[in-house]
This record gives sequence, structure tokens and C-alpha cells, in this order.
Amino acid sequence: MCGIVGVLGKHEASPILVEALKRLEYRGYDSAGIATLHEGHLERRRAVGKLVNLSDLLVHEPLAGKAGIGHTRWATHGAPTLGNTHPHRAGPVAVVHNGIIENYRELRADLAERGIGFDTDTDTETVALLTHGYLDQGYAPIDAAKATIDRLEGAYALAFLFDGEPDLMIAARKGSPLAIGHGEEEMYVGSDAIALAPFTNRITYLEEGDIAVLSRTSLTITDANGELANREVRTIRIDSTQVDKGGHKHFMAKEIAEQPSVIGDALRHYLSDDGRDVVLPGADLDFTQFDRMIMVACGTAYYACLTAKYWFEQLAGMPVEVDIASEFRYREPPIPARTGALFVSQSGETADTLAAMRYCEGRADKVLSVVNVPESSIARESDIALPILAGTEIGVASTKAFTCQLTVLLLLALKAAHDRGTRSPEELADTLSNLRGLPATINHALELDPAFKTAARQLAEADNALFLGRGLMYPLALEGALKLKEISYIHAEAYASGELKHGPIALIDKTMPVVVMAPCDALFDKTVSNMQEVMARGGKVMLITDRAGAEAANDGVWTQITLPDVDPILSPILYALPAQLLAYHTAVAKGTDADQPRNLAKSVTVE
Ligand code: F6R
Repeated sequence: MCGIVGVLGKHEASPILVEALKRLEYRGYDSAGIATLHEGHLERRRAVGKLVNLSDLLVHEPLAGKAGIGHTRWATHGAPTLGNTHPHRAGPVAVVHNGIIENYRELRADLAERGIGFDTDTDTETVALLTHGYLDQGYAPIDAAKATIDRLEGAYALAFLFDGEPDLMIAARKGSPLAIGHGEEEMYVGSDAIALAPFTNRITYLEEGDIAVLSRTSLTITDANGELANREVRTIRIDSTQVDKGGHKHFMAKEIAEQPSVIGDALRHYLSDDGRDVVLPGADLDFTQFDRMIMVACGTAYYACLTAKYWFEQLAGMPVEVDIASEFRYREPPIPARTGALFVSQSGETADTLAAMRYCEGRADKVLSVVNVPESSIARESDIALPILAGTEIGVASTKAFTCQLTVLLLLALKAAHDRGTRSPEELADTLSNLRGLPATINHALELDPAFKTAARQLAEADNALFLGRGLMYPLALEGALKLKEISYIHAEAYASGELKHGPIALIDKTMPVVVMAPCDALFDKTVSNMQEVMARGGKVMLITDRAGAEAANDGVWTQITLPDVDPILSPILYALPAQLLAYHTAVAKGTDADQPRNLAKSVTVE
């Protein structure tokens, strides 16, 4: 993952680089560093851990210079040590890199044969060393960088700076996103446009294989074939104010609380004025053109797709195949005619999802994306990009993006039902009317926060936990287990309730909390039977249900939380809340970092 930035400016570079890196910290926070060029010489400051450590270091050891590059790291090759922290330097060149150089072993062997030693365990150092080698052979900086890039295999967004070249930066993109920002006699580079938002909103996105040569007043881009390329300068709308926690202890808490409002935004965007129809502004989409859908994503977004499968099948009678992007992309799945391919991604930059999408381009009838970042690679490359309008999500664990993904996917399923005539206009209008009331219902559910806090204190004592759900609640159980493990580090697994007796029931004893997500729907009685099987073996059941469920469930549950009633078809959106709140309060009770859990990053741009 990692985030990279660069500036050729009129002002001191170091505060600009730190400000931009703050906005990229979601891409990794193992270590951070910057290099600036002052009086012709490159100098670096680097610090292990979160960006704040680098900022503190810069207070005591400031860096002068109006040109600079910076990096925030999610370690791939080499531990998060100071030595492995970017920028990497070899002689007169400094480099920052996001991605993975897949042939770095080969390149290192080649360098070692020439007697060149290494100071780091990173793949990136080879880029700096190769460039240095070409400079030594008399290549000009631009040619040295290009010759190096020619030898790289894998994924990279790169920025180079050179001793004695205060008005030159070279940037390159292949497999990792990179944006160039245009200022007034200033030029910027960033892993995304959000990083550059305080400085400019005029952005050029590099395309695969592009190499950009920047000065303060010029930008020259060559494409993958070495031909001069004309790339659009877009004026984009991005809020430049640094998002704050709005009085909450964590971004995650704030983002959970924002859900009624952002889901309301999504509904306003996709509903007709009278609220009786789904409209897709600017998109020409008719589900009668498809016989089936495939939906592909990673992590939480994958669980959103799993939920959508139930919706599309039940509401629109459409067969849906759901897959994990990292598996789909290498399986070479056949894509029959009349297939719609849909990709879900908060960041719109997830490497596996992007690769899976590229596989479908030219094979599927249409490539759709459901994304949060409208300027992202996935949004830009799909035939139709449907924004989820969740706003910037800072917490690494996805919350409001998940419920907005669910909302948009449900609206699409309802549109599919309309287009294919599988539901009457009255039935659809009823569901849409219930959906319009959902933000208010979620607001009521948020008032149960203290109950989740109490339940989470109990969960925090456990080493392991199980989540169970049936039907529409099965993907939600999976999401609940993922949320709990990623931010509280408690080992958690989820099963379809009916699968319990096929193996996992062996795990049940009095130390095992079992979170059961079960509104009183058509499958409730079956889930209650599974719950009884757990309790009969001493398992501790935490039941999340509605009023009718609370009345119907037998005594003996360990903890019970009663959510407001909701139309069963909408239940996944409401039941995302317990999944999030239980995990959040457990993390707080355990003292783990809910916003930036260990080993994770928000945007996974490596495979
Ligand atoms: C978990 C989480 C991840 C992401 C996954 C896909 O809370 O956030 O599992 O859902 O990394 O990311 P996007 O949606 O950006 O493609």
C-alpha cells in the first residue's frame, strides 16, 4: 500500500509534505519519511511508527527546501525499521515508492554482482541503486529514471528527486494510483487527489505505464509506449478541510454515528422526486440486458456483495455469483454472454478488485462499479460508476461505507426487480417507502449504544468468539466477525447457523461467546433451534434481535439486545450497526487502536 507525495513549490516543502501525508496515512502507518532538496542537496528525515513521530522529529530537526518527496509506509518487504523507511537514497537520487517490485531479487542479484551493497531489506532500494548506477554511467537524470523504470516488474507509483536538480521531479505509475496536482508555478504528486486537496484541485491522473517529468511550470507525460501523451487536467471537487473527529473519541465512532445522514444522502441521490422509483443519474442501465450478475470485491465490500446476492435472487430472480477478487482474478472464470459484472470498493483502488474488473472488461456485457471515491481507478475504468456517497471514511475498519454500499446494492436489486417485472410497482413502492424511513430507524438503534458498550465489556474478556446468522443475516455475521477481529484482535469466526452442527459446534464450551444475529423473520425459529444447541453445550449466546424475536426467544441467553423493528428485506443495513458497535466498544475496552489497527491499511493497492 503506502502513500507517496511530492512537491516542487514556492514555499517550504516540509510542512506541505507532512500535511499531504496526513491525508494518506490511511494507506499505511508503519513509518514515514520525507526528503527535501536544499541548496542543491538532498536531506532526509524519517521516523518509525505513525506520522506524528515524523512531525515531532521535524520540530527538533527541521528540513529546509522547496522541493521534496514523502512517504507513509505499510511494510511489504522488510520490517518497519528506520532503515527500511522511505525515502530511499543512493548517491544523488532519492525515491519514494508505493507497490511491489516483483523482480527485485533478480535486480538485487544483478547489483550485488557489480559489487553494490544494500542498506535496507526493501524492494525500493533497488530502484534508487539502479538509478544511481545509470547516473554514474553518464545518463541524465530523466534517462536514468526511465532506464530504471524499464527494468521494473510489478506494481509501482514512484517519485524521484535528484541532487542539483531543484526544478525536476520524475513520477511513474504502473499498477498503483498516482495523481499530479497543478498549482500556480507549483506542481504536486500524490497517491490520491485527497492528499493534494489543500493545495490544488486541478488534477491529472496518470495512466498505466505513464512516466511524468515535472518542473514547477511544466508537465510532460510519456505513455507505456514512450509516446508523448496528452492527459486531461480535471478540476475536481474535494473538501480540503482536514476531516476531524467531530467530538468523538475515534473516527470509527463518528463514522458509525454518521450513517443515518449518509444513507439519507444516498437515498436522495437514487430515488425519484416522489420516492416511488429508483433512478440512476447519468447512467443508462436496464437489468433486462443481463441474464445473470457476477459481483466481486474484497473484505467488507465482499460481504456487501454476498448480501446483494440474496437481494437480487429474492427480489429480481437473477442468478448472482459472488467472488473474492484475489481468487476470481486468477481463476480465469468463463463469463457467459448477457452477464453484468459489478465491482464494489470503498477506495476504488483495491489492487485485486481492479485486476478482477480489468479481466471482465471486454468479456462481460457491462462493467459496473459501486464506489465511494468517484475519482478512483475503479470508478474511472468501469462502464458505469455508481457512487455510494458515504463521504470520506478515515477509520480503517469500514463502517458507513459498508451500509452505503448495502443501500446502493439494495436499490439496484429493486431496480432489477422493476426492470424484470418480478415485483409489482406497489410492492416496490412499499419497500422504497420503508427504505426512506431507515435513517430514522438507524438513529433509534444508535441510542442503544450503552447496551452495546456493556455487552462489549463481556466480549472483551474472550479469546475467541463465534457469530451466527441465517439468510440475509449470514453475511452480517461474517462482517461482525471480521470487524471484531480486525480492531479488537479477538479471534472470531462466522458461520451460517445451519452449518454449526457440521463441525464448529465442537468449539462450544462455557468460554465461547456466540453472537447470534436474528431478527424475527421467516428463518427465526430455525435460528432459535441452533441457539438452543449452543446453550445446551454451555455456550454463551449474545442475541441481537427485534421486539418479536426478544419475546419469542427462550430464556437462557447470556445477553440480549433488542433493535427497532424493520422491514425484513432492509434488516442487513440495520444489523450492520451491532456488528460495528460491538467491535468498536470491544476495541475500546481492550485499549486497541480502533482507527488504525495493527498491520492494516485502508487502501490495499498491493495483492
Ligand atoms: C474491513 C475493511 C476491508 C475492506 C477491503 C476492501 O473493515 O475495510 O476488508 O473492505 O480491504 O477495500 P475497498 O472497499 O476499498 O476495496
